[in-house]
Amino acid sequence: MAQLQNDVFLRALLRQPTPYTPIWIMRQAGRYLPEYNKTRSQAGSFLSLCKNPDLATEVTLQPLARFNLDAAILFSDILTIPDAMGLGLYFADGEGPKFERPLREEKQIQLLSAIEPEDQLKYVTDAVRSIKSALADRLPLIGFSGSPFTLACYMIEGKGGTDFHRVKKMAYERPDLFNKILQVTSASVIAYLNAQISAGADAVMIFDTWGGSLTSKAFKQFSQNNLTQICSSLTREVDGTVIPRVVFTKGGGQWLESLAETGADALGLDWSTDIATARSRVGDRVGLQGNMDPAILLTNPDVIQKEVGEILMGFGEGSGHVFNLGHGVSQFTPPENVLALVEAVHDQSPRYHR
Ligand code: CP3
Repeated sequence: MAQLQNDVFLRALLRQPTPYTPIWIMRQAGRYLPEYNKTRSQAGSFLSLCKNPDLATEVTLQPLARFNLDAAILFSDILTIPDAMGLGLYFADGEGPKFERPLREEKQIQLLSAIEPEDQLKYVTDAVRSIKSALADRLPLIGFSGSPFTLACYMIEGKGGTDFHRVKKMAYERPDLFNKILQVTSASVIAYLNAQISAGADAVMIFDTWGGSLTSKAFKQFSQNNLTQICSSLTREVDGTVIPRVVFTKGGGQWLESLAETGADALGLDWSTDIATARSRVGDRVGLQGNMDPAILLTNPDVIQKEVGEILMGFGEGSGHVFNLGHGVSQFTPPENVLALVEAVHDQSPRYHR
């Protein structure tokens, strides 16, 4: 692997010294950017953007052309895995993702099998290769997947953001069946992330968006175990360079100590946890990535600068912090506020790295 011109993000994830705090933004390529909306309408839909490696490359690079970000993230979606398993992903306008054939019958579940990424999801690994070549070693590229639990939520409910009653009913009543879904999905996630690493991803992130909806006991049983299994099965090094892993359980603030034991190099933090408290709880076991409330980006540069100052001060001196939002950027964010955010992090952070 050629030396990256800017590897500050990778070093921060591994808690190595850096001259400043790196920043990237969840959903940095998205609907708040007019150029994204233009490419998306040319492609016809979000899914056709994801499935076309040239267009996926184009939109991945769009935020990097505007803002001095420290990492690129593959443009894709976590729901590519269940789509490849045959569930029929579609996006109904304004309603988020849905599946044509959610898992409802035992027979469907018994027939599920793990995906072969270089076969069914070759459009993703092709996009990784194409983005890597376009980046020309300027910045690291983040690959990603959903967690098995979060993917299972969509696969069973058929959509997101519900009360998860179908999922929880199955988990509590038929743990054998639910574990079958989790096992097949974990095997798929491992193969998928390792294929992204082979294609050139420099770091990987696992999005456990709905893990926080579980009880502490159910979280250990139905999400954390799989996160640990995945981390222990990921390619650790490519040509002597470590591939860091980030685990992000939204709403998982109360479980940071046990999440630090999953094998993650860094944990994503949503905005509900104070970052100073989080750091004192995980100590030097893992780095932290986060955790500004995305709603702050709906305000103005003064408010943004002040909030950045508080988060940087909260984390305090030394390395191990990657600045990010606590969840994806809102489509109603003025792009100039993202510019102000990136500049504020780069201007204010060097004093914590002397
Ligand atoms: O961060 C990035 O720029 C990389 C791209 C990325 C997308 N989705 C693009 C996207 C990533 C990392 C994801 C992950 C993802 N997808 C998650 C985990 C992170 C999280 O948000 O919790 C989840 C739960 C999904 C499933 C998903 N895809 C949802 C819930 C939605 C609807 C969101 C909305 O605001 O309507 C999507 C669609 C989606 N994924 C968009 C983008 C840019 C918007 C699609 C559009 O253009 O209409």
